Amino acid sequence: MKPLLLGLPRALPVTGAGAKRTESALPGENAVLLGTIEQIKLQLPGWEVPTNLSEDGWCATQVRHAGHHCLVITSQTDRGVLYGVFELLRKITLNQPLARWNEHQNPCAPVRMINQWDNLDGSIERGYAGKSIFWENGHIASDLTRVGNYARLMASVGINACAINNVNADPRVITTPYLPELKKVAAAFRPWGVRLVVCIDFSSPKKTGGLDSFDPLDPRVQEFWKSRAEEIYTQIPDFGGFVLKADSEGRLGPSAYGRTHADAANVIARALKPHGGLLFYRGFVYDHHMDWRNPKNDRARAAYDNFAGLDRKFDQNVVIQIKNGPIDFQVREPASPLFGTLEKTSEAIELQITQEYTGQQRHLCYLVPMWKETLDFDLHARAAGGTPVKALVAGNVFHQPHGGFIGVANVGRDTNWLGHHMAMANLYGFGRLAWNPDLSAGQIEAEWAELTFGSDRKVLETVKQMQLASWRVYENYTGPLGAGGLTDIIGVHYGPGIESSERNGWGQWHRADQQGIGMDRTTATGTGFIGQYSLVVAGRYESLKTCPDELLLFFHHVPYGYRLHPGNTVIQHIYDTHYRGAAEVLDWVSQWKSLKGRVDDQRFEDVLASLEYQAGHAVVWRDAVCQWFLKQSGIPDKRGRAGHYTNRIEAEAMKLDGYESIAINPWETASGGRAVQCVVSNGTGSATVTWQGKLGWFNLHVQYFDENDGISCFRVLVSGQVVDQWDAADVLPSNLPNGHTSTRRTVRGVALRPGDEIQIEGRADAGERACLDYLEIEPAHE
Ligand code: GCU
Repeated sequence: MKPLLLGLPRALPVTGAGAKRTESALPGENAVLLGTIEQIKLQLPGWEVPTNLSEDGWCATQVRHAGHHCLVITSQTDRGVLYGVFELLRKITLNQPLARWNEHQNPCAPVRMINQWDNLDGSIERGYAGKSIFWENGHIASDLTRVGNYARLMASVGINACAINNVNADPRVITTPYLPELKKVAAAFRPWGVRLVVCIDFSSPKKTGGLDSFDPLDPRVQEFWKSRAEEIYTQIPDFGGFVLKADSEGRLGPSAYGRTHADAANVIARALKPHGGLLFYRGFVYDHHMDWRNPKNDRARAAYDNFAGLDRKFDQNVVIQIKNGPIDFQVREPASPLFGTLEKTSEAIELQITQEYTGQQRHLCYLVPMWKETLDFDLHARAAGGTPVKALVAGNVFHQPHGGFIGVANVGRDTNWLGHHMAMANLYGFGRLAWNPDLSAGQIEAEWAELTFGSDRKVLETVKQMQLASWRVYENYTGPLGAGGLTDIIGVHYGPGIESSERNGWGQWHRADQQGIGMDRTTATGTGFIGQYSLVVAGRYESLKTCPDELLLFFHHVPYGYRLHPGNTVIQHIYDTHYRGAAEVLDWVSQWKSLKGRVDDQRFEDVLASLEYQAGHAVVWRDAVCQWFLKQSGIPDKRGRAGHYTNRIEAEAMKLDGYESIAINPWETASGGRAVQCVVSNGTGSATVTWQGKLGWFNLHVQYFDENDGISCFRVLVSGQVVDQWDAADVLPSNLPNGHTSTRRTVRGVALRPGDEIQIEGRADAGERACLDYLEIEPAHE
């Protein structure tokens, strides 16, 4: 318990010389008593023992003893006491009164786990905050300080398990030489009640076990898993279990031998069972070589098609780990129908904290409101009363023992864990929801913001406005009406790449063509996916009348002129939301600026830089999506914005010296589909235009491409005077000029007179040719 004193702020209402010391016996003064029920009973013999606590649940009570006042925090388990103490710390920091604090809390579900997709070489799949804190050079990191700190962070929100390697698992992890290394991680986790879990490769018996098979029904394979489990538990008695991704995205699985997922899960679960371990079997199983020409094919069907028929076939210590939606962490998806279907199997919801499809921690996007929509969604499963996803995954509806919540976090070595300061609200929020999914997105945000930034009302109000709006704002400037993220599906999942979803087997199709957009998933004319829901839910989605607009294109294919419930057309909605979304982010920049001096300088500057970047990238998204749909549909924006950029001068239309015009791929990620690049690598170029507008003060927006294969330099000159210069040194996820690398630099408050020459100079470096898209000149209002 000693480390907990670290967290006790000065505000703890205990005074006197002896305050803030730990003792194992009752002191003769007022005190805070921390201990399991058994321990407290020994100290307070007549004490009324709480009987309403589940494992990990805690209670706080006020007790008078020998004339002294004691605040008792207790639980059946050490872990539960720890959680109670973190609640105490939270209350103190939030200035909540303790004098009459009498409360008990039980976690909603036993499984509250983080998955890290870390590779043994220290890289992290879909990680956006630096290298792995767990692994380096093929082994567990030599310094595990961050691992211990991470465990404390997880415990502070009630997380009790963590898988530390990629679901695309390296089979070496459970081989004998690695076990002493895993043991060290387990030791760093243990003081914080976090159990170690690892991801495994189903073909391990063959790849590392010396067998010629990994058939789950082969007795030698069964023996292999048994011996692996025994050896692991000898070293790590509190080991949590394994996560398994099989028959998915090229991972080997039971289909190699014509066996079922239940055969695969059970052979491993049986090896873990004597030791109390769980097998988390991922429901993310689909065929990524589907024929896109067949309109009946549908990736959304896969989880249900693969698992629904196997209910009753899984052993008790198998947990099916199901992504929130039927596709893959898109900005808007309905709840997976599988949650409501499994009645005899434990299930856990998998949520993605790392923002793979939601801006990769370069964009502010608070995901708790999105998770809440899924968790609160009633699937009308076959049970009396409401059956929201949160109750189903907790195991409360069908009385399954091991349900819960799994979050893919991918923290890295960045000092603030996730890269973007605001992204920590997602990690915090995941833990809070896993403990109590009835908390609202607003309550969680308010707690997080005050714990993070202190109690300045203006700061809290501003952060709240931005956080609570941010998911819808991100959706506004990226993907419309449930069509999917419209991002580059077959690459890095970051910038726009609208056609990348189509004409391939990955199945993230939106079916946008010249007439319309959306996947027909109806039972009447489409893929039949809707039929996987209960009758009540299916009825609502099947009918255009009752299908909610925000999921319209997930379930239906409609013409661009189709009218949404408020009466606007789909195409006009696309234009309007993209313009609105980009404008909303721009507004955050000024809101945040108003907090100068109220937030510490470093975080103020970091967040400001992120928001300015996001505002620029939101414009890239807005323009890409609007240009593309304008061209496809041929239907103009009735507000005249899409395709008309009044203040914009295309770089290829400027006077070029040392620069040449090039086509950009995909075309919609550059204004007009073209940009300019330095003719010579490592050479210089200039693009010049003469100002023909009025005399005044202006902001100059320079849209350039910051690739990751060089650091080019730019200068902006007005009639020979340098007004700005910078290095394109960001590390964005591409080495080409496209929607991932398109970046905006704003030079504010520049005086322009008619006839002034505005010149942008670029110096190329290595593979980066100092590419420029356009210059936009707008009157300065500030
Ligand atoms: C996504 C993600 C992959 C990941 C996979 C999974 O498809 O892009 O990197 O491996 O999900 O969840 O298994």
